[in-house]
Amino acid sequence: MADIILGIESSCDDTSAAVLRDGYLLSNVIASQDVHKAYGGVVPELASRAHQQNIVPVVSEALSRAGVKPADLTAIAFTRGPGLLGSLLVGTSFAKALSLSLDVPMVMVNHLQGHILANFIREEGVEPDEPQFPYLCLLVSGGNSQIVRVDSPLEYTILGQTIDDAVGEAFDKCSKMMGLGYPGGPVIDRLAKEGDPERFTFAKPQIPGLDYSFSGVKTSLLYFVRDEMAKDPDFMEKNKADICASFQKTLIDILMSKLIRAAKQTGIRQVTIGGGVSANSGLRDRLVAEGQKRHWKTFLPPRKFTTDNAAMIAVAGWFHYKAGERAPLDVAPVSRLSEF
Ligand code: KG4
Repeated sequence: MADIILGIESSCDDTSAAVLRDGYLLSNVIASQDVHKAYGGVVPELASRAHQQNIVPVVSEALSRAGVKPADLTAIAFTRGPGLLGSLLVGTSFAKALSLSLDVPMVMVNHLQGHILANFIREEGVEPDEPQFPYLCLLVSGGNSQIVRVDSPLEYTILGQTIDDAVGEAFDKCSKMMGLGYPGGPVIDRLAKEGDPERFTFAKPQIPGLDYSFSGVKTSLLYFVRDEMAKDPDFMEKNKADICASFQKTLIDILMSKLIRAAKQTGIRQVTIGGGVSANSGLRDRLVAEGQKRHWKTFLPPRKFTTDNAAMIAVAGWFHYKAGERAPLDVAPVSRLSEF
């Protein structure tokens, strides 16, 4: 009998549900929350409330698009964390209620594992392009920046991570500072395409090992813009594209230098990226270029699976389900990775 997994994702500001049959995606529905745009960042209480409004219609839509009835489900996979607690509580509680009413087991998923396994989402009519184990994943999102060694779908080692801001946070905060809006990554990505990445230079951190730091580059941009604007109030407007291109290049240089070091240290040549920032055109191009130069095999998840989605939660949940894991009914969400 086929394994039909319902995935539920509610860790931040996207409510998503997906249905997977034996690893193949049947549907993936995402309700994004525009309410946060006016605040320049995610407002946790508004996010929880929007999840509460969205969760039932989103799950119904995912089942209906997949042509699957609730009684057909084999298991329910949900994001346990990390993320915003109030947001996670909505998905977790919904999964429990559905599990009890249908008498179907639940499996809990680490949100980051979902991003790491995004390349394993199979779609009918699309040739699978999946990394072989072990591989390295550069996991870059609004909450995390890590280099992860993946030895199997359920075995991970974090080789390096940020000691302060995540790279997505650097994109978002700097975009806000430049008056470009939220989320900042897509706007900076778009403007960077029209600018000169060599025009300005920003401070790069000197952090030992494979760890990252992004707070210094953020401050470097802040002081640079402040000083230039004191001389010419139109500086930002006139140089927006060059600032974005140069800032983005600095972030990519920082990310790639440690990834290259990790590949050298481990000897692993299968390399993937994941998380919201992996949608960045500059980063995707650079990964491919470095891969060609260094004889890596590189894997880019389709853009639609880079930001938060339940398809990746369903895939990760399916691996856990096949390994015999089940979540107890008293499971509670966790906001931090260290609590996993
Ligand atoms: O993975 P994600 O959807 O949410 C979590 O943080 O879990 O990532 C969101 C982050 C935001 O910081 C957003 O600015 C960034 O991903 N992002 C991008 C791009 N698209 C989204 N950053 C750079 N370039 C992009 N094209």
